Amino acid sequence: MTENIDYDSLMPLIRLLADGEVHSGESLGATLGVSRTAVWKQLKKLDALGLEVDSVKGSGYRLLRNLDILAPEVIRNLSKVISRGDLELLSFSSIDSTNRWLGDHLKIAPLSRLHACTAEFQTAGRGRRGRQWVSPFASNLYLSLGYSVNDGLLGLDGLSLAVGVELVNALEAFGITGARLKWPNDVLYKGKKLAGILIEVSGDLTGLSSLVVGLGVNHTMSTEGAQSIDQAWIDLSQVCQDLNIPLPKRDDLMVTLIDRIAGLLQQYPKQGFAEYRARWSQLDAYRGRPVTLLLGEKKIIGTGCGVDDGGAFLLQTESGTLTFHGGEVSLRSGHAA
Ligand code: BTN
Repeated sequence: MTENIDYDSLMPLIRLLADGEVHSGESLGATLGVSRTAVWKQLKKLDALGLEVDSVKGSGYRLLRNLDILAPEVIRNLSKVISRGDLELLSFSSIDSTNRWLGDHLKIAPLSRLHACTAEFQTAGRGRRGRQWVSPFASNLYLSLGYSVNDGLLGLDGLSLAVGVELVNALEAFGITGARLKWPNDVLYKGKKLAGILIEVSGDLTGLSSLVVGLGVNHTMSTEGAQSIDQAWIDLSQVCQDLNIPLPKRDDLMVTLIDRIAGLLQQYPKQGFAEYRARWSQLDAYRGRPVTLLLGEKKIIGTGCGVDDGGAFLLQTESGTLTFHGGEVSLRSGHAA
């Protein structure tokens, strides 16, 4: 059960243990200003976050894996868009879903101002098409950005594809090459899912309305998290090993993502998808390849033919080129039976 735990109160202890070294109960208590018994009680609660604590006889405690914990103050200092005052950031140690939280927050937040929300842990992370997004503690990146307006959300066709392009651009800024996009916006590496994007709009689309762009990037998936994923996946630690490059710190990646996606959201209503189409095509995982398109119960087979100027998927079939606009459509590689 995770509901009754105050995760914020555990963060100081987690930060001390994040180095994976052994810390005595006495030194932890002295640094935190609490008794050894209080330390022990807190240590017991770390299990609910999937953190395994090893008790080293006569010496103290250590975490079984090092943690790269997000530092919101570092993110604020490094982000250009936050330093300029263009975006307000809220960071949680734990939340049900950053998309859910931001969507609700935008109902009371100042209109048109960009807001972002990050979390170390999501108890009910949302994926596309009603799926769950597995979101273990201090393992991956969970980020939502958005804004609300009172004159409707216009000119956003293809936005989710453009977000995918910026996500890949952000990875490439760290030397992480080889990521590809599966329409509409899955990020794949060697055919396995590395990141996902969930865009949610609400309100009256010609009046008061809000847009939330959610990004989940697998960074260092925990063993516990890995067990509950029901598709082929990969994380950046594996990708960086494959490319033989250092794994970027989560803070640095988060800053790059925030700045790039915020820049995109500021420009997009003026620019539209046409600016992104060529780059999206370069990154298209399925261009010229056999694909099966699933439309509810229906399967349509053909060859991936890229996207049009509005970001709609083009499928070349025996009866000509068909155009698909997202919604409940999904793609599979090859001609599935
Ligand atoms: C997908 O199914 O591919 C989309 C996954 C999107 C996950 C992210 S994690 C941050 C944000 N908050 C959520 O609840 N979901 C998105």
